[in-house]
Amino acid sequence: MSGAREDGVGRARVSVLLDADWAAGSLVADVRRGLGSAPLRLPPKWLYDDVGSDLFDQITRLPEYYPTEAERAILTDRAAEIVTASGATTVVELGSGTSDKTRTLLDAFAAADRLARFVPIDVSEGTLRAAAEELCARYPRARVEAIVGDFTLHLGQLPPNDPGAQRLVAFLGGTIGNFYVEERAAFLGALADSLDAGDTLLLGTDLVKDADRLVAAYHDPGGVTDRFVRNSLAVLNRELGADFDTGAFAYIPFWDPHLERMDLRLRAESPQRVRIPGAGLDLELAVGEEIQVEISAKFRLPGIAGELAAAGFDVVTSWTDAGHDYALTLARRR
Ligand code: AVJ
Repeated sequence: MSGAREDGVGRARVSVLLDADWAAGSLVADVRRGLGSAPLRLPPKWLYDDVGSDLFDQITRLPEYYPTEAERAILTDRAAEIVTASGATTVVELGSGTSDKTRTLLDAFAAADRLARFVPIDVSEGTLRAAAEELCARYPRARVEAIVGDFTLHLGQLPPNDPGAQRLVAFLGGTIGNFYVEERAAFLGALADSLDAGDTLLLGTDLVKDADRLVAAYHDPGGVTDRFVRNSLAVLNRELGADFDTGAFAYIPFWDPHLERMDLRLRAESPQRVRIPGAGLDLELAVGEEIQVEISAKFRLPGIAGELAAAGFDVVTSWTDAGHDYALTLARRR
């Protein structure tokens, strides 16, 4: 790898694949689809406005919320192994945000002089631009090619491999748990389609465990997770002129042992009529009626391997933390 850069040191390239109307248009479509008929649900991506992103950040520091620390511990222990086993020199990160936890991984690639290029992808342009500039400074020998995009829509537009090189796609944090089973299969299949044989995926997944610990991770005594989930209604009030009384709902997190997922809902505590003018919807909610705001699927190692195999990936290695709470799986595109 050459240390010289021809395109200006410290400059990230940023491609914007989302237009300004994207968020507005897809929120309306999601709300019509999700709240237009029972069962009522909202896609979790709308939880992450500025308020929600800040609350999620607080969640990752809660003592009950173990996944962040568990993933960090695995990355710290295994980053050098991941570099070698992947054989990659380009790292792509889906839903990168600030790329905070990814730095452990990127540091290991850079230390081995194997970080030619980093491609962070996120819907939040401001966060992404700031992170990209910082990463340019931290990894002066790497090209940073940020993409403002939605990783459920734009997998077909990943930058191609450099000649003879391989990419590692990192999808961390357990975010894949937000997908329903059939969405998961579609997502992994689309990712496999967008990769070349030999490219790898590094997938973070929370594991099935004792129901008490799972529920505790989503029901902290200080109510941070409650505020995070409830904020989804404030997003609809602000963006679509809705008139949800956010205090008229109870936060109901529960473990679904059959589907092996946490299910986070808001339950109407009184009968309500809610107008959502921006989506052209009027909602009548009976007492006890629930809106599912997020699911968080939990995994078992054989299931992960099976789903990856069905999509066209072979597991190289799965690593877990000392408590077997969480797994990082490296899988190679067949
Ligand atoms: C960011 C989707 C991995 O499912 O644990 C945390 C989101 N929601 N607490 C998760 C979340 C409530 C988180 N993911």
